[in-house]
Amino acid sequence: LCLIVDFGSQVTQLIARRLREIGVYCEIHPFDRVDAAMLAAHPPKAVILSGGPASVEDEGAPRAAPEIFELGVPVLGICYGQMVMVHQLGGRAEGGHIREFGRAELRLAEPSELFEGVAGPGETAEVWMSHGDRVSAMPPGFHVQGASEGAPYAVLADPARRFYGLMFHPEVAHTPKGAAILENFVRRIAGMKGDWSMAAYRDEAIARIREQVGDARVICGLSGGVDSSVTAILLHEAIGDQLTCVFVDHGLLRQGEAEEVVTLFRDTYNIPLVHAEEADRFVGALAGVTDPETKRKTIGRLFIEVFDEHAKGIEADFLAQGTLYPDVIESVSVSGGPSVTIKSHHNVGGLPERMKLKLVEPLRELFKDEVRALGRELGLPPAFVGRHPFPGPGLAIRIPGEITPERLEILRAADAIYLEEIRRAGLYDEIWQAFTVLLPVRSVGVMGDGRTYDQACALRAVTSVDGMTADVYPFTPAFLSRVAGRIVGEVRGINRVTYDITSKPPGTIEWE
Ligand code: XMP
Repeated sequence: LCLIVDFGSQVTQLIARRLREIGVYCEIHPFDRVDAAMLAAHPPKAVILSGGPASVEDEGAPRAAPEIFELGVPVLGICYGQMVMVHQLGGRAEGGHIREFGRAELRLAEPSELFEGVAGPGETAEVWMSHGDRVSAMPPGFHVQGASEGAPYAVLADPARRFYGLMFHPEVAHTPKGAAILENFVRRIAGMKGDWSMAAYRDEAIARIREQVGDARVICGLSGGVDSSVTAILLHEAIGDQLTCVFVDHGLLRQGEAEEVVTLFRDTYNIPLVHAEEADRFVGALAGVTDPETKRKTIGRLFIEVFDEHAKGIEADFLAQGTLYPDVIESVSVSGGPSVTIKSHHNVGGLPERMKLKLVEPLRELFKDEVRALGRELGLPPAFVGRHPFPGPGLAIRIPGEITPERLEILRAADAIYLEEIRRAGLYDEIWQAFTVLLPVRSVGVMGDGRTYDQACALRAVTSVDGMTADVYPFTPAFLSRVAGRIVGEVRGINRVTYDITSKPPGTIEWE
């Protein structure tokens, strides 16, 4: 076990992710939960002290349990973690300096085990700095191994005790060789093997769920997407029939999707499933609604209502949610300043309070690609696990203007052709999201000898790592022509196809 002591940095979870990637098991614990008893019960082989927003000189600033430095294991302090280490081991760190953020060039002064394969003496490495405090006196035993222009104490080390402090963040992507630095720390310096895997994660997650839930009942809202499906299957492995799934089928899913979910859960996994077929109710409530936010709110409200109705008989104590780590970070305001609502994302937010349920969120520590790996580990079909993300409000936000059953049918048919062609061309997995938008526009066309006056659609395909920013996927003109030809030829009601070439920003991925 590598213990990560969390001092509240926005990127602490990235440390865990980097370690998982190299097969090292780690746990993140808030600094105030780590004490002598906890360390004795779960002795770590290495400790990482994370960054954090505080200044060591602040009153009541967080501290590391002093026992950490007496375990005889390697300790790596990152940013605030470095300051804490310096401060608690007899050096001095001061606040009140200009905070420095951003790219910097680190120059190594001497050979360092931490930088093996990254940089040698006199060589430089690109790093991402972020610090407010700075070291003014080193603790006994420490010396400087590397510095940058703005940070003379960028790398501190006491190699005899295997204590290291970094003033930059090795865990972020802006430190290109940061993963190698972390790997050197846990494997080379701490001698950890790195033989941990997603299979082990699954077992640990199951054990944690059992511990949290005991013999209580759990309900889980299924959306048809990967996250809620993985959550449900993991819970089912952990607690079997104590779990009931409620699939709120709002009639806004893609072609064949609802059936696929029902078959998968009922037949393949044998999970008790309530299939709430409420398409009429949702589409009815959306009649005449054209404002995007009103659509989202209407669907969100109804979703809760329907879920609540179907969950009443179940008498659950827990609600399972497929919250991922990016949702956790996004919900925290980074700057503390006012944040603007671009779109009100729809999930089952509001449910737990209303139904007085406790939450089980077994995917809270994972990123999307890790959820997919876990899904494969749980035996979900690769094609299901690899599905593109799909928004909670479904096709409703892909039909600007009014939603009618007819327009939904047209959109489904066009979208199915588009996705079929993408799969056939072997491009599906290269694309983050691809979908069709039915436009509230009619245009004149000519088919055979006749005039047409029909609807237009837009094709969208983007690449992205996290959905926060996105680039347009560069299809060949031949591919786009083929799709356009098929849609106009096969889908009654569409006579024009366009390709959306807007990146995010300034566009968003969805149209509403
Ligand atoms: P935008 O359109 O904001 O979308 O660029 C970013 C990502 O989020 C998805 N999305 C949603 N997901 N509920 C969801 O679960 C929602 O209400 C919602 N709105 C957008 C979108 O598909 C893209 O992957």
